[in-house]
Amino acid sequence: MKVTVVGAGAVGASCAEYIAMKNFAAEVVLLDIKEGYAEGKAMDLMQTASLNGFDTKITGTTGDYSKTAGSDIAVITSGIPRKPGMTREELIGINAGIVKSVASSLLEHSPNTIIIVVSNPMDTMTYLVHKTTDLPKNKIIGMGGALDSARFKYRLAEALEAPISDVDGMVIGGHSDKGMVPLIGHATRNSVKVSEFLAADKMQWVVEETKVGGATLTKLLGTSAWYAPGAAVSGLVQAIACDQKKMFPCSALLEGEYGLNDLSIGVPVILGKNGIEKIVEIDLSDAEKAKMQESAEGVKKTNGLLQL
Ligand SMILES: NC(=O)c1ccc[n+]([C@@H]2O[C@H](COP(=O)([O-])OP(=O)(O)OC[C@H]3O[C@@H](n4cnc5c(N)ncnc54)[C@H](O)[C@@H]3O)[C@@H](O)[C@H]2O)c1
Repeated sequence: MKVTVVGAGAVGASCAEYIAMKNFAAEVVLLDIKEGYAEGKAMDLMQTASLNGFDTKITGTTGDYSKTAGSDIAVITSGIPRKPGMTREELIGINAGIVKSVASSLLEHSPNTIIIVVSNPMDTMTYLVHKTTDLPKNKIIGMGGALDSARFKYRLAEALEAPISDVDGMVIGGHSDKGMVPLIGHATRNSVKVSEFLAADKMQWVVEETKVGGATLTKLLGTSAWYAPGAAVSGLVQAIACDQKKMFPCSALLEGEYGLNDLSIGVPVILGKNGIEKIVEIDLSDAEKAKMQESAEGVKKTNGLLQL
């Protein structure tokens, strides 16, 4: 199993580290355009191997895509992150060009790879890869919902004063402050709906804090977060690499599912060796359906900014 991670910045390096720590991949190649940067990050990470007990070989390259040849999975994290006060959508101008050229270079050397898009605005960048490559739709996956769901569970546990292992919940919709749809009505503590434990205002607090989860961290850190994003990507990579058939909310190209068409947006999917093996359509309440529709309109508006 060979995994390439393009962009050896905060998220890319964190993602490579978590993949290595889980010890399921033979090789991780980090690629960046900044001279020596990926090589340096790879060497630093390799020097943790004996300390952390993993055998995954991590190498780095400055822009040499021949080193990524034969990748089973490729993660795109290259591009600029947001600064405090910025929305993810504002990154489109720079990141669209980067994501398009990176996807094309990856496919030249690994025509059968599965691409996981992380760069923001993620749903639109995922759609861009669908529109500009010949990869089948099951092989193009956007990572956002796995992270947003982890942030949702963090806030649920906080509100419930419960350990995180007690709670379960999922965020679907667009990966943006306004577009996220945390499914609070479906969230549970040990299979009991959280509405049994939380008052309506507390549930609303969880929803709102989840939606601005990324912005809260960007304000604190001065740039966007990397540990949870990296861990979330590594979960997707592992599910594909180990054919786990796990369910994650991911940005997938919809063709009628959820009543939506011609966009990539967060919905529950089953991930296995073929990438997206199934889009899972769950029953949504009328209010959730309306939020999903509104979210889709937001994503489509951003997609409209692409010069395809
Ligand atoms: N989808 C998500 O849930 C999620 C979460 C966090 C961050 N992000 C996004 O991920 C991206 C990366 O964030 P970060 O914090 O790691 O940023 P970063 O600045 O730390 O790293 C980005 C790296 O990309 C490299 N790069 C730029 N252009 C490149 C190119 N053409 N080829 C190869 N490498 C290139 C840069 O040199 C840099 O090292 C941002 O767009 C951010 O918004 C998405």
